[in-house]
Amino acid sequence: MKYFLASILVFVTIVFAKDSVAMKVFHTYCWGCHHQTAQAFGPSFRKIANKRKRDEIIAQILSPKDMYKKLGYRRNSMPSFNDLNATQINAIVTYILSFKDKK
Ligand code: HEC
Repeated sequence: MKYFLASILVFVTIVFAKDSVAMKVFHTYCWGCHHQTAQAFGPSFRKIANKRKRDEIIAQILSPKDMYKKLGYRRNSMPSFNDLNATQINAIVTYILSFKDKK
């Protein structure tokens, strides 16, 4: 029983720690221009999640200058975030994709 409770605690800590990486990246770097479900200066995460694949989202974050045309934009107003580490990128992309509508 003791071990069972301990492993639940570890699991919950991991899940929340992962979530908070995404929330920190979101609030620090993205929130000024992107909101979860509402259009802001940039498209909402829901809109992005419903039309893009993980690879395209990662590419846009790392190098919007190389991606905006492929994604159908006429100009690029998003800065690149190529100093985020792999953990931060994965966390924010998973967060974005969590807004995909269930079919
Ligand atoms: C200064 C405003 C700004 C910030 C900050 C910003 N974005 Fe953007 N983002 C935009 C704009 C504007 C676009 C539309 C395309 C363009 O301008 O390149 C966009 C496009 C995107 C797209 C592609 C949209 C599509 O059609 O699929 C993704 C993915 C994205 N942003 C993710 C992020 C993430 C993740 C962050 C935070 C790490 C972030 N953006 C921070 C303004 C911003």
